[in-house]
Amino acid sequence: MPKITFIMSGQEKTVDAKADETILQAAQANGIPMESACGGNGFCMTCKCKVRKGAENLSPLNEREEAMGVGGEERLGCQATIKGDATVELEN
Ligand code: FES
Repeated sequence: MPKITFIMSGQEKTVDAKADETILQAAQANGIPMESACGGNGFCMTCKCKVRKGAENLSPLNEREEAMGVGGEERLGCQATIKGDATVELEN
């Protein structure tokens, strides 16, 4: 089972995630305050996070993220699906 570590306000919390769920789904299942104003549809950017480790263990950037101008170490939590362990820092 993949482990996702969330960094928020300098604190870390590691949770178990299901393979192929999104970062946002893993956050919501574990009480992590990742925002999702558009309901996980890739239009609001409130779920934007920075990948600190394990970028290779997430799905590749998708068209929705590219359309929103996300790139580099940034990902949308509602679009990036989990393949293995990763560490992400919340931005909102
Ligand atoms: S929840 Fe709106 S872009 Fe991800």
